[in-house]
Amino acid sequence: MSAQPQIELVGIDKHYGAFHALKDINLTIPKGQFVALVGPSGCGKSTLLRSLAGLETISGGTMKIAGEVMNGVPPRKRDVAMVFQSYALYPHMTVEQNLTYSLRLKHVPREEAKRAAEEVAKTIGLQNLMHRYPRELSGGQRQRVAMGRAIIRSPKAFLFDEPLSNLDAALRVHMRKEIRALHDRLGATSVYVTHDQIEAMTMADHVVVMRDGVIEQQGSPLSLYDTPASRFVAGFIGSPAMNFVPGSVDADGTSVTLDLPGAKRLALSGRRDPGRKVVVGLRPEHLEVVDIAEAHLVLPVTVVESTGSLTYVTTGGTPELTVVITGRSTVQAGSDIGLAIAPERLHVFDAETEKAI
Ligand SMILES: Nc1ncnc2c1ncn2[C@@H]1O[C@H](COP(=O)(O)OP(=O)(O)OP(=O)(O)O)[C@@H](O)[C@H]1O
Ligand SMILES: [Mg+2]
Repeated sequence: MSAQPQIELVGIDKHYGAFHALKDINLTIPKGQFVALVGPSGCGKSTLLRSLAGLETISGGTMKIAGEVMNGVPPRKRDVAMVFQSYALYPHMTVEQNLTYSLRLKHVPREEAKRAAEEVAKTIGLQNLMHRYPRELSGGQRQRVAMGRAIIRSPKAFLFDEPLSNLDAALRVHMRKEIRALHDRLGATSVYVTHDQIEAMTMADHVVVMRDGVIEQQGSPLSLYDTPASRFVAGFIGSPAMNFVPGSVDADGTSVTLDLPGAKRLALSGRRDPGRKVVVGLRPEHLEVVDIAEAHLVLPVTVVESTGSLTYVTTGGTPELTVVITGRSTVQAGSDIGLAIAPERLHVFDAETEKAI
């Protein structure tokens, strides 16, 4: 990694009329990094990506690519390649013609363009499809052609906007590995927009969680999982989603009592303000099934679902809790389940601000 970041965003703001779509976005991306922008619909992911590509004009801040200020530079001079969900291949052109289109626009000699296309086709496994038309390709092959069109330009950065959302589940899993492997092979710098947190977690070196135009938290995938800074990030990262139960810190500040019938005190791994109203986060995979006599929580079981490798248990009452058990379980709907959780596994959020405390 070089000292100079490949992409640097400082204090980016974007207004659409009265609507404030991006608010003080700060993000530094080293060369070679794979960054995922993730967050719910409408949080500003595409706006940020399109601003990077120059397809949107930012209202404030500084945007640099490879050390050069890009504010006001038109899209075609930014030397970045966008790969969209709708691949927008030219239907009347073969794979080879689709691949070389950008080179022909730049008047690259025919033979040179052909060689470049062959090189790219080899990288992404399209050699045998060069004379096909897009309608003669599968979804995954079309996605590869779209990637190839981006690669052939040797851009300073790849910008992906939900490129896999048209594909079925199995192909998505395959293509996300393929895209990541390609990124590594090319030594590329990539920004990848998705609303799928699993995709973000599995593909990226650095995950940026956005909400309402703001970066809520950014860090390595596992740091977001281990130490979410807010209830929002905690609920967004991890599958099945974290359970949240209201409660209050006990008088000595070293334990918390949940607002669940019959709940015992849960020890905390550090001190908190006595009496403070909190929301406690319990990951489904961190709740342990134990003997009822030793349990922190005893709850009725309403649903048991098994996938073979995992068993999902849902408990009754408010709020319902989800518990994930590795392998099979003898737990049955209609019976009671005893649950325990280690102090260091608890996530504690202020009830009011919803920030981790
Ligand atoms: N041209 C526009 N004029 C006004 N508002 C816009 C415009 N484009 C986007 N917005 C608004 O900006 C916000 C962010 O939109 P954006 O497309 O960046 O969301 P997103 O995070 O990509 O969502 P999705 O996951 O649904 O694609 C949305 O509330 C959207 O309605
Ligand atoms: Mg979008």
